[in-house]
Amino acid sequence: MEVKEAIEKRRSIRKYKSKGVELSIVERLLYYANLAPSAGNLQARDFIIVDDEELKKKIARAAYNQEFVRDAPTLVVFCANLRRIAPYGERGKNLYCIQDVAAAIQNFLLAAFDEGLATCWVGAFDENEVSRLLGLPSEVRPLAIITLGYGDEEVYSDRMDVKKLIHYNGW
Ligand SMILES: Cc1cc2nc3c(=O)[nH]c(=O)nc-3n(C[C@H](O)[C@H](O)[C@H](O)COP(=O)(O)O)c2cc1C
Repeated sequence: MEVKEAIEKRRSIRKYKSKGVELSIVERLLYYANLAPSAGNLQARDFIIVDDEELKKKIARAAYNQEFVRDAPTLVVFCANLRRIAPYGERGKNLYCIQDVAAAIQNFLLAAFDEGLATCWVGAFDENEVSRLLGLPSEVRPLAIITLGYGDEEVYSDRMDVKKLIHYNGW
């Protein structure tokens, strides 16, 4: 699939078939995720694969009861690693590692779509509770939960006319 085709056709899918996703596929998608740009190539990001049913239920609760989080066969929690980004000081901690993770997520979403899989980026969750459930060390911050599975719905989302968002040579 062409990259542009994946960009145009990917959508957030919140309904999944019961079929699970093979671990080797998830690992391969994370290989592509980690090829995303990274500040100083420090790769200040970690990926936690969750396929345990009980743990998924607890994470869904921590995500303010978004039920599709529980129903997705696999979750991947994308985390920023504050220790790995430490050489870049405050800017590294407050900005670069977040951008590192976001770039990796977008690669993951597109690679998953190319693989015939569906995803949704979930940002609304109790960060402390997810950290606790996953036993994260204090220097690791969970930034997003990505649901992954074989999609069972078709959705459409629109965008603003990009011309309204483009500025030339300043605001
Ligand atoms: C930072 C971020 C946080 C998001 N959090 C949630 C969320 O908690 N729950 C949810 O259902 N979708 C969430 N989404 C998905 C957006 O709702 C979705 O991307 C948007 O509506 C555009 O739809 P599309 O992805 O199908 O193009 C989030 C997306 C981003 C980028």
